Amino acid sequence: MGKVTFNMTMSLDGFVAGPNDSPEKGLGDGGEGLFNWYFSGDTEVYMSEGVPPLKVSKQSAEILKAGISMIGAGIWGRRTFDIARAWGGHPPGSPAFIVTHHVPQEWVKEGSPFIFVTDGVESAIRQAKEAAGDKDVVICTANILQQAVKAGLVDEIHVDVAPMLLGGGVSLFDHLNTGPIDLECIRVIQAPDVIHLGFRVVK
Ligand SMILES: NC(=O)c1ccc[n+]([C@@H]2O[C@H](COP(=O)([O-])OP(=O)(O)OC[C@H]3O[C@@H](n4cnc5c(N)ncnc54)[C@H](OP(=O)(O)O)[C@@H]3O)[C@@H](O)[C@H]2O)c1
Repeated sequence: MGKVTFNMTMSLDGFVAGPNDSPEKGLGDGGEGLFNWYFSGDTEVYMSEGVPPLKVSKQSAEILKAGISMIGAGIWGRRTFDIARAWGGHPPGSPAFIVTHHVPQEWVKEGSPFIFVTDGVESAIRQAKEAAGDKDVVICTANILQQAVKAGLVDEIHVDVAPMLLGGGVSLFDHLNTGPIDLECIRVIQAPDVIHLGFRVVK
């Protein structure tokens, strides 16, 4: 069985998007700088078929490629699915489990990379683990991470820290309201334009 991991890019003050995120401005006001590191290097990394490659530094490319090779399934919340306009049908991890209260019928069809889960995050993780087999399940949105952490279902938290303060927006650990949770630091890699941090959740 693989692990349940998490990965997103965060500003130093803890935001994964700026205020007023929308399909027109996916990372919110000022948030586009979070992803500078995806386009500021000279090493190509393909995230998914049909999507142009990222261009990152050598250090970041190694990390991304290792992570991609381990992805067996991904989980996102419905806001990101809508804001990303369903990634044009090419999610950055497949199969893609989308947690939502309302299934978008236009994506329920033969060959769709999406599986919509309406009975909660624990169910999404259970289904994603089955699909992933020996590989990892990666959670990629803040809201879903918070619920998964509360349920004690996350094994590793990987955060790519972008060198900026956003000052507001979507907070990665908003309203967690758990007691303290101990983490073991398993990775610190400084790359140009980003610092890759990894933690194991101590259970
Ligand atoms: N920095 C990065 O690396 C990065 C990467 C990806 C995305 N982003 C950005 O991060 C932000 C993510 O937003 P977010 O974390 O607030 O939202 P999210 O996780 O993408 O979506 C939250 C939505 O998922 C549905 N949902 C959540 N839990 C549910 C449950 N238990 N049962 C049924 N439905 C449930 C609800 O939508 P419904 O009620 O409408 O179904 C809820 O409003 C976006 O701005 C996105 O662009 C940043």
